[in-house]
Amino acid sequence: MVTKFLRNRLVFYREAFRQSQEVGAFTHTSKAVADAIAEPIVRGDRPLRVLEVGAGTGALTRSIVRRLGPGDQLDLIEINPEFVHVLQEQFGTRPGGPEVRVDQRDVELLPRDEQYDVIVSSLPLLNFPPEKVRRVFELFLTELLKPGGTLSYYDYWAKELRTFVVGPRERRRMKEVLRITKEFRQRYEVKDRLIPWNLTPALVHYLRRPV
Ligand SMILES: C[S@@+](CC[C@H](N)C(=O)[O-])C[C@H]1O[C@@H](n2cnc3c(N)ncnc32)[C@H](O)[C@@H]1O
Repeated sequence: MVTKFLRNRLVFYREAFRQSQEVGAFTHTSKAVADAIAEPIVRGDRPLRVLEVGAGTGALTRSIVRRLGPGDQLDLIEINPEFVHVLQEQFGTRPGGPEVRVDQRDVELLPRDEQYDVIVSSLPLLNFPPEKVRRVFELFLTELLKPGGTLSYYDYWAKELRTFVVGPRERRRMKEVLRITKEFRQRYEVKDRLIPWNLTPALVHYLRRPV
């Protein structure tokens, strides 16, 4: 058990080093952020469908699975094949839990024929090209979420500081990403929450698709 835990941690750090742009973090997310980001998942009288994008080695997945039960469905999407392997090992469908499906895919290649009550994302948006950030928000908020459904994602508090330590071209790209993100937040955000108990303090955002 401990060996598996350490091995999964090592996989994360190795990939964070090898694919630093794609992974976009030097360590996995804290439990405090994981619990906050999973908050919109509330079981009621009908089964829930939840999508987690950029699941990594499952730092958020654990909090999500805890909030789901039999009859619910959780789709985990991750681009990195090493992480997909860990997710398959850790989060297969178990008795008493939700049905879990793990898919190695770029978020943009998700099929459009399913809709979700909640989407949880920890994609490293600040590392993406601006057009991709726009397409991903549109995909989540106008196609993949059910009307009334919630997208929760987080970014780092004071992330704007990163624009001061890069060259002019990179600075332009990041500022455009921040502008697009702000545009979607102004249109869809219902609340945000600061979580100081993360290695870098995090802001969790909750955006809702109108009914
Ligand atoms: C900041 S890490 C978060 C990992 C984990 N969920 C956590 O919170 O610790 C971002 C994750 O998104 C994945 N990712 C990056 N680009 C992606 C894409 N286009 N489609 C799907 N996953 C992607 C990375 O491989 C990485 O696992």
